[in-house]
Amino acid sequence: MSRFVNLAALLIAVGLPVSAPARAADGEQLFKFYCAQCHGLQGKGDGPNVTKDFPVDPRNFTKADEMNKLSDADIRNVILDGGPVADKSPMMPPWGKTLSKAEVDALVKHLRNLCKCKGKP
Ligand code: HEC
Repeated sequence: MSRFVNLAALLIAVGLPVSAPARAADGEQLFKFYCAQCHGLQGKGDGPNVTKDFPVDPRNFTKADEMNKLSDADIRNVILDGGPVADKSPMMPPWGKTLSKAEVDALVKHLRNLCKCKGKP
């Protein structure tokens, strides 16, 4: 009996840590899934969705001089509410209904990795 209990405890102990990280927001994965079709896998604004008739190029996230003009809060707002909240094109869709706060935070972090910049304080 005690061997059985030990085995059950072991399975629980092994099972929990495996499922937790899988659920944590992964900015890179989220970016590939939701953003890369326009902003490009490397964030250069050259995703497969972007054609010659696109009225405005999606932001190139690797340009530190452009990305430094935005604070983390600016980026968060555009992700949540879409381009028009920042007088930008509605071609940048709002994601507030799709993504959780933790996912948006993870995306902001990922964009800062892409530009290797800290942005406006
Ligand atoms: C349907 C295409 C499309 C998708 C999908 C998309 N974007 Fe955009 N995004 C754009 C376009 C176009 C712009 C440029 C708007 C402008 O400059 O007027 C933009 C601009 C931005 C900006 C810059 C705003 C600024 O003030 O310069 C951020 C940040 C951004 N997108 C983040 C994201 C994130 C994060 C995702 C994924 C959750 C995403 N975008 C998905 C098209 C898209």
